[in-house]
Amino acid sequence: MASRQRCPRLLAQLRPRVSPASHCRTTPIRRARYSSSSEPKNSSSNTGFTIGIILTATALGCAATFAYKYPLPARPARLDEPTLADKDALKKREAVIGNDSPMRLRMEKFIKEQQQIIVKELERVDGKKFQVDEWERPNGGGGITCVLQEGNTFEKAGVGVSVVYGSLPKAGIAAMRANHKSLDPNLESLEFFAAGLSMVLHPWNPMAPTVHLNYRYFETALPDGTSQAWWFGGGSDLTPSYLFDEDAIHFHKTLKEACDKHDKEYYPRFKKWCDEYFVNTHRNETRGVGGIFFDDLDETERDQENTFAFIQSCLKSFLPSYIPLIEKRKDMPFTEAEKAWQQIRRGRYVEFNLLHDRGTAFGLSKPGARVESILMSLPLTASWKYMHEPKAGSREARLVEVLQQPKEWV
Ligand SMILES: *[C@@H]1O[C@H](CO)[C@@H](O)[C@H](O)[C@H]1NC(C)=O
Repeated sequence: MASRQRCPRLLAQLRPRVSPASHCRTTPIRRARYSSSSEPKNSSSNTGFTIGIILTATALGCAATFAYKYPLPARPARLDEPTLADKDALKKREAVIGNDSPMRLRMEKFIKEQQQIIVKELERVDGKKFQVDEWERPNGGGGITCVLQEGNTFEKAGVGVSVVYGSLPKAGIAAMRANHKSLDPNLESLEFFAAGLSMVLHPWNPMAPTVHLNYRYFETALPDGTSQAWWFGGGSDLTPSYLFDEDAIHFHKTLKEACDKHDKEYYPRFKKWCDEYFVNTHRNETRGVGGIFFDDLDETERDQENTFAFIQSCLKSFLPSYIPLIEKRKDMPFTEAEKAWQQIRRGRYVEFNLLHDRGTAFGLSKPGARVESILMSLPLTASWKYMHEPKAGSREARLVEVLQQPKEWV
């Protein structure tokens, strides 16, 4: 965590970056990229940082299927050809990103704008400022991690964007074809792009729920830079320590409205998917009261433009789904016993993220991972009490019942 800056500085991210070498025709763009990087220039670190970036993209939870299924080798050396990252960097310098720009650049722009909007609103609620860490990667892409730790409302809040350019080997392409038939299994390697926004908010007040969100876009590209396969994934889910039915209903209702604008079947399908993914199987409990979760939304379902519109609706529904809840609960009175129960529930959150979340597990098993980004989703404090059982008939017991048998909220 090198720099301490305000999130509004992120605006700089949306402006085109001009490096002197980029205008010099005789200087390969790749050199310009390396020279602007603070990363070690040692090529043996390629595997480490490629995987590290993937994990950054997936740091907050559910984005990891990609990285989990397809471990990446060192990037092949093709110094003669501009990469997808080079081409995108050039496009960003040459023109304003608009509706006819490639989806990669539109998604990156969208999630960076949303990150700023969300961070600003959370700063308003909390009264304290986020710490902002921006990084770039030598092979293109980078990220912005915003963390507010020990705020007035939030014990820990993380809102991160990451953009990844990498190369997928033959084995990875073959494995990915399971979900994306349009991929050509005869290619030796394939460039890919991944961009995502991830967030976890842990409030201090035990009456205020934890919330998680992640929306991401993947694309593979042919050597000429044209898109070969693309898909979106993501979701948002709520984890209360004390269950207020009206809060769960409001959260689900807001998500359902966002889904219904695009397809009436999305909400029931993605609500179920969420209940099935965020489960502490060893405890027979879901992590929280759910929300929506989905992956591999591609052209077999709906065209890219409409799918992007759906993702935009989902992400834009975040603030209306959560801000009324945090405003209502953040200053409620609570007892020491209630705080202790929150700490036990936080422990369950940690159990899910460390034991079951695929992105976290994969990330921590690899050298060179950006550990702080991967573990940004963990709460500041949590506890484990031996053989703790809530009293029968208590509010705590009711929460556990609901987590064992997920409800339909809307
Ligand atoms: C918990 O166990 C019950 C009974 O076997 C089962 O119906 C339920 O789906 C389980 N809940 C979760 C969240 O795994």
